[in-house]
Amino acid sequence: TKPLRVALAGLGTVGAGVIRLLKDNGTLVADRAGRPIQIVSVCARDRSLDRGVDLSGFVWEDDMTQMAERGDVDVVVELVGGSDGPALTLARNAIAAGKGLVTANKAMIAHHGLELAEAAEGRGCALKFEAAVAGGIPVIKGLREGAAANAIERIYGILNGTANYILSTMEASGADFSDTLADAQRLGYAEADPAFDVEGTDAAHKLAILAAIAFGGKVDFDAVACEGISRVRAADIAQADALGYVIRLIGMADVDEVDGAEPALLQEVKPCLVPKGHPLAHVTGATNAVVAEGNYSGRLLFQGAGAGDGPTASAVVADLIDIARGEVGAPFSVPASQLKPMARAETGGRTGQ
Ligand code: HSE
Repeated sequence: TKPLRVALAGLGTVGAGVIRLLKDNGTLVADRAGRPIQIVSVCARDRSLDRGVDLSGFVWEDDMTQMAERGDVDVVVELVGGSDGPALTLARNAIAAGKGLVTANKAMIAHHGLELAEAAEGRGCALKFEAAVAGGIPVIKGLREGAAANAIERIYGILNGTANYILSTMEASGADFSDTLADAQRLGYAEADPAFDVEGTDAAHKLAILAAIAFGGKVDFDAVACEGISRVRAADIAQADALGYVIRLIGMADVDEVDGAEPALLQEVKPCLVPKGHPLAHVTGATNAVVAEGNYSGRLLFQGAGAGDGPTASAVVADLIDIARGEVGAPFSVPASQLKPMARAETGGRTGQ
């Protein structure tokens, strides 16, 4: 059988994780995919860095944006990050060349997902981004497939592992904000620019993607009202605790149906008081949890590791398995041309970052 041949752009935490996963689980992945998944070429900024994985069998590409041009590449995996720049050029080039694209890049999908989905659907090639939302949790697959028969009434949860790690560690040990952030960076959870984690931007990217899938609307990142955790003090956490709450950074999307008015989408990310008895209060560390309320399924809770090499690599390779099986599908559940423009709810409008 013909292997699925992959060009891998970006060899950071997640890229190295993908190489390790395919080495360790190669046989079971091939069994489930129906054929082997094989990395052909790689590209990263620094060629000399020791990433703890064997790169000797791969072709090194100098120009990342041209990785899709190789005749022996079927799929591009983009793990570079950044909403624009080389990642976006590579994504556009890959789709234009009719290659599949798998990405963990939530910023790029939040800003350009619609354009990329239209292009991919036009070319009949796959665009998949399970790893872009909530790391190892198959929440996109869960919504697109598992909950496909439902009208989703509301979706909310903890969408940033770094912020949750900081809040829950401060709460458990009274640790200092900046020490905890430094730990999250060392553990490979944080974004290249950790302001995206602590100011809520990363959670807002993920929320805008989830809302589009859940409600069938065009991705509207600019409508996410966003407040991060940088102003949460140890004293606020202690005060919340005394009152029976914990503080969590929550992303929430909801459709407001006011009689006579067009339904409006509300999207917001902000630190919230969560009663200690609520399932989200027990979500600690770099864990993410997403609650989706379906009109027939009832309340669904997706929980798991929201960041880190293994979990995120697990989502990337799951997408590759789908592509190896020939599953193309509409990236946002319905064809991009059918995604509706959504009115913005009153409190919408992005503030902060
Ligand atoms: N920086 C992100 C987080 C990584 O902490 O959740 C996963 O998207």
